[in-house]
Amino acid sequence: MTSRGRRASGRFPAPMAIDHSSRVPIHRQIFDWYQAAVVTGQLRPSQGVPSTRGLARELQVSRAPVLAAFEQLVAEGYFVALIGAGTRVADSIPAQFAPARQGHETFVRPLGGARFVSRRAARLSVDDGPWLTHAGAFRASIPALDHFPIAIWGSMLARYGRSAAHSMLGYGNSMGHPSLREAISGYLGAARGVRCGADQIMIVSGSQQGLQIAARVLLDHGDAVLMEEPGYPGAHAAFRSAGLRMAPVPVDADGMDVAEGRRRAPGAGAAYVTPSHQYPLGMGMSATRRLQLLQWATEEDAWIIEDDYDSEFRYGARPVLSLQGLDTAARVIYLGTFSKVMFPALRIGYLVIPEDLISSFRAMREAMDIFPPTLTQAALADFVSEGHFARHLRRMRILYDRRRKRLVASVTSQFGNDVRIVGIEAGMHLTLLLPDACDDVDVARRASAAGLSVIPLSTCWLEEPEVSGIVLGFGSVDEGAIDSAVERLARIVEASPGF
Ligand SMILES: Cc1ncc(COP(=O)(O)O)c(C=O)c1O
Repeated sequence: MTSRGRRASGRFPAPMAIDHSSRVPIHRQIFDWYQAAVVTGQLRPSQGVPSTRGLARELQVSRAPVLAAFEQLVAEGYFVALIGAGTRVADSIPAQFAPARQGHETFVRPLGGARFVSRRAARLSVDDGPWLTHAGAFRASIPALDHFPIAIWGSMLARYGRSAAHSMLGYGNSMGHPSLREAISGYLGAARGVRCGADQIMIVSGSQQGLQIAARVLLDHGDAVLMEEPGYPGAHAAFRSAGLRMAPVPVDADGMDVAEGRRRAPGAGAAYVTPSHQYPLGMGMSATRRLQLLQWATEEDAWIIEDDYDSEFRYGARPVLSLQGLDTAARVIYLGTFSKVMFPALRIGYLVIPEDLISSFRAMREAMDIFPPTLTQAALADFVSEGHFARHLRRMRILYDRRRKRLVASVTSQFGNDVRIVGIEAGMHLTLLLPDACDDVDVARRASAAGLSVIPLSTCWLEEPEVSGIVLGFGSVDEGAIDSAVERLARIVEASPGF
């Protein structure tokens, strides 16, 4: 877009009113308002202002006082008038106004010390670990964005952007766009062994929102939820914000220890699990544990939230199907996302809801954002139903498998037996277990300073971390860059005091 085009988009009507009872002439009132707006920064340098004709119409005055005010604003250097390009605020505010500008803060600043927020908000914090601030190797959760068929996706978006039916521009169904729900139910049945009809699918703005909605529908403030320990920090944040009491339950090679969960939190109302590929340790939940968990839910009248976030990418011989597909008592709420299989900025995921809970989920959704943008949902439905999604998945599975093998080989040759690699059967990340005395946050911090992004395992614990390690994503790292990045990482880890 040209800078001229961008300026034109900023010609907003001015929120001013003329005081006809005032002795201050109208042209002066207009001049004063715009002068103050420029000096205080309310109007930005180069920002367009309305035409004199348009402003006169809006203020319901004749054009003469508006012309007089604008002429003076131009003469004094606040505005510039460009032939054919309208009038705009001067590029730089003349130096004589600088002191006044400093005196007039654009934004209202809070006074005093810490101020009151809800207890719920006070318990939350932004994860601003330096490992999340750049996209270097081995940033977890980021797919191979440079391999995404953006031109095809763009053509699907343009299809609706250019000529969406009027009905698509109004309020849509709070369960989501019907064509996308159809496309997803077909995919889930065929690929994930999920048993559901399209009417049970709710389109959400990513898993994160799915967790928020499920927490609020299924549980009340203070209710307990069994959590895998270590587990997914995104789920910790969602449940904390919903006021739930999280009961950490250890995971072992078979996934969540259900018997231990029963012991630690009798009466818990739900369990959150990642049974296909435990986050962050990467094991699959064994069949026995799956059945134990389903039995627990039935006996306790509790719910299971199954987060199936990346198991489309499986590299072992056997596919691991969903827990939902084993459930005969409709106790599982299944959650999926397009963040890994498409791209995270899409912000589209889905819940599969037991039939008798649909109206409660809908009501909760209508109290929130109602539904994600319809045109994006429709474009995604076409992307899936026209075969682009399946093709992209197939390609990415091959690509990630190569990256994964290279990463495992590279770590094995660089670290030898000094670290243990876990969770390589699925997904886009693996975890390196470090010696217990190693401070994984320190490793991640130093890796970040060296341009590497690794997530410290200790950020995944609700209680005191018992295992030290780092999560390495391989989705977005070129195969050719893996060896040198692992070499750099090895130097950092080896220099760690506990190593
Ligand atoms: C366990 C787990 N669930 C869900 C997600 C995806 O979240 P969202 O759909 O909100 O992008 C991730 C991404 O890293 C994850 O690790």
